[in-house]
Amino acid sequence: MLIFIIVNILAGLVIVPLFLYLRNPYVFKDLHYACRLIRAGFRMHSKIKSCPSMVGSFLEKVDAHPNKPFVVFEDTSYTYRQADGRSNRIARVLSSSHVGVKEGDTVALFLGNEPLYVWSCLALLKLGCAAALLNSNIRARSLLHCLACCDATVLLAAADLRGAVEEVLPSLLQQGIRVFILSDDSDSEGIECLGQRIQQASEQPLSPQLRANTTIKSAALYIYTSGTTGLPKAARVTHERLMQASLMYSLCDVRDDDILYLYLPLYHASGFFMGLCGAMDKGITIILKRKFSTSQFWNDCRKYNVTIVQYIGEIMRYLCNTPKTSTDREHRVRMAIGNGIRADTWSEFLQRFGDIRICECYGATEGNIGFINYIGKVGAIGKEHFLQKMMTPYALIKYDTEKEEAIRDSRGFCVEVPKGETGLLVSKISKRAPFIGYAKNKQQTERKKMRDVLVKGDEYFNSGDLLNIDHQGFVYFQDRIGDTFRWKGENVATTEVADHLLMVDCVEEANVFGVKVPGHEGRIGMAALTLKEGVDFDSTATHQHVKAYLPSYARPQFIRIQEALVVTATFKQMKSALVEEGFNPGLITDPLYYLDNSQGYVPLTQHIYNSITEGRIRL
Ligand SMILES: *[C@@H]1O[C@H](CO)[C@@H](O)[C@H](O)[C@H]1NC(C)=O
Ligand SMILES: *[C@@H]1O[C@H](CO)[C@@H](O)[C@H](O)[C@H]1NC(C)=O
Repeated sequence: MLIFIIVNILAGLVIVPLFLYLRNPYVFKDLHYACRLIRAGFRMHSKIKSCPSMVGSFLEKVDAHPNKPFVVFEDTSYTYRQADGRSNRIARVLSSSHVGVKEGDTVALFLGNEPLYVWSCLALLKLGCAAALLNSNIRARSLLHCLACCDATVLLAAADLRGAVEEVLPSLLQQGIRVFILSDDSDSEGIECLGQRIQQASEQPLSPQLRANTTIKSAALYIYTSGTTGLPKAARVTHERLMQASLMYSLCDVRDDDILYLYLPLYHASGFFMGLCGAMDKGITIILKRKFSTSQFWNDCRKYNVTIVQYIGEIMRYLCNTPKTSTDREHRVRMAIGNGIRADTWSEFLQRFGDIRICECYGATEGNIGFINYIGKVGAIGKEHFLQKMMTPYALIKYDTEKEEAIRDSRGFCVEVPKGETGLLVSKISKRAPFIGYAKNKQQTERKKMRDVLVKGDEYFNSGDLLNIDHQGFVYFQDRIGDTFRWKGENVATTEVADHLLMVDCVEEANVFGVKVPGHEGRIGMAALTLKEGVDFDSTATHQHVKAYLPSYARPQFIRIQEALVVTATFKQMKSALVEEGFNPGLITDPLYYLDNSQGYVPLTQHIYNSITEGRIRL
C-alpha cells in the first residue's frame, strides 16, 4: 500500500510538470520570472522604507564594497568610495552659499559621458535636487527651450560644450539661469568654472537632513523626449520610477560580479535608468565610454573582462557589419540588454559572436509599462506574464492608421484586438503604474492619456506603439504612430524638423516623415517641401540651416519638392502616401534631393538610389 502511494507521488512529480510543460513549454521560465518579479517587489518595498532615493542603493554599495571599482573611464578606475567622495565634493560646492543650490531645485546637466556626469548626478540626488539631463547634441533654440521647460536655475556644463553655452549665454542670463563649468577652465563674463572649488572641497559625507523632504514622488530627473509638438518635452521622472527602473537588471538576471560596458548616452533613459541606475542597484563595475566605437567594442570587452553590454538595434547591426576576424568569439560577454534589435541581426549576431543571451526589453521613458523578453525568443521585444498583467493592466486596441485614431465601438469604447493581431498598446494609469507626464506641458501630458477605453471612467497611457502579441504571449513591435520616427536610436520629432525647414527663405511649407531604407533599422528623415512662388530650391541655404540647427540624425536625408502638399479632409498633412512612395527617383516624378555629407543637397539620381538600396552607400 505504502509503495503504491509512493509510486503515485513519484508519478505525480513527473506527470504534473510534464503536463504543464506540454501545455506551455515556457512554464518553468515563467515561474522563474515570477519569483524574480516577486523578489523585486519586496526589494523595492524595503528600499523605499530605508531611503526614498537611488542614493540609498548607492550608499549601501559603498558600505558593502568601498574598494570595488565603480566606474572605469579611459584607463582610470574609480572605486565606490572614491565616487562617493567626489560626489560629496560637488554637492558641497553646489550647496555652498557660493552656488546656493538647495533641496527641490532643478539643475541642468550639459555634459557628454564622463565620470563627472555620474558624480554630478549623485551630488544632486544627495541634495534632493532634480537633474535635468540635457542632450549634449542640442544647441540654440532647443537648448533654451529645454532649460525653460523644467525651470532649471543652474546649468552645469562640461568644458568641451562651452561654445554651445556661450552661443545662448545672453538669453540664459536674461532668464536668470546661472552657468557653471564643472572643470578647470578660465572664467569669463557670466560663466564661472568650479573645478578648483571642487578640488578643494571636503569629501566628508553630507547630512541626509539636506534631502529630508524628498519623497518617492519628488522629481529626481527630467529626461527629454521628442514628441509630437516638435520641441522636446521634459518627462518628469520621480524617485519611485527611477528605483523601479533600477530593478530591471535584477529582472534580467544580472549578477553582482558582472562588468557592464556602457556607451549609450547618459542623458537617455536606457543609458541612465538601466545602465547607470541598474549598475548602482547591483553594485557592479561600469566601463564607461564617451561614445560607441565599432573598432574598439570587442577589444574593450576583452581588455576589461566585460560580461554585460547594453545595446540599441543599430549598434548590433554595426557590429555584424564589421569584417569577420578570428577573435570574434574571444570575449566573456554573456548577455546583451537593450532594445530594437531586428530578428535577422539577432540570429547573425549569435552565430558570429557566440552564445550571448540577448535580453530585449521594451519601455518608454515616460511610460508606465515595460516588457522583458526573458525567454530569449528571437525577434520578440517581450513576453506577457500573468503577474505583470495582474499588477499593471494593459491592452492592445484597434487603431485606424489613416485617421490616426483608436477605433471605438457603438458604445464609444475601444476594441481589443484578437491575439495575433496588431493593435495600439495602452496601459492603465493607476497608483501602482502612474503616468507622471511632462514638466510644464499639461497639453502634451493630456494628449498621452486616453479615457473611457474599456469601461466608463478609466484612464490609460497611450504608448503610441503598435504591437502584436502571439498565442504564446510573445510581444512583437510593429510600428510607431504619430509624428515621431526613430533613426540611429534617436527619436526625431517631425514638427521640430519642419519648423527648422520653414526658416529657410525659399521654403513655403514642409512635411517631414521617416522612410525605410533596406538594411537599416528605423526610418531616415525625408521632407516634402513646397517653395515660395517664383523661387527655386536653394540647396545651399537649406543644407547650411539644417547643419547648423539639427543634430545629424534629424537632418532630412531626402527632400522632395512638390507643387502642393497633400492634406487630409481635416487639413492634416498626409504622410502615409509619402512614406509609402519613399525616395525612388524611378517612381517619383517630383524633383528629389539627397544629402551628401561633403556636397550638401544634390539631385538624387537613379545611380545614388541604387547604391543606397544595394548597400554601397551606408547612411
Ligand atoms: C521641509 O519642508 C518643511 C515644510 O515645507 C519646511 O518647514 C522645512 O524647513 C523643510 N526641511 C528641509 C530640511 O528643507
Ligand atoms: C581579466 O581576467 C583575467 C583572468 O581572470 C585577469 O588576469 C585580468 O587581470 C582581468 N583583467 C582586468 C582588467 O580585470
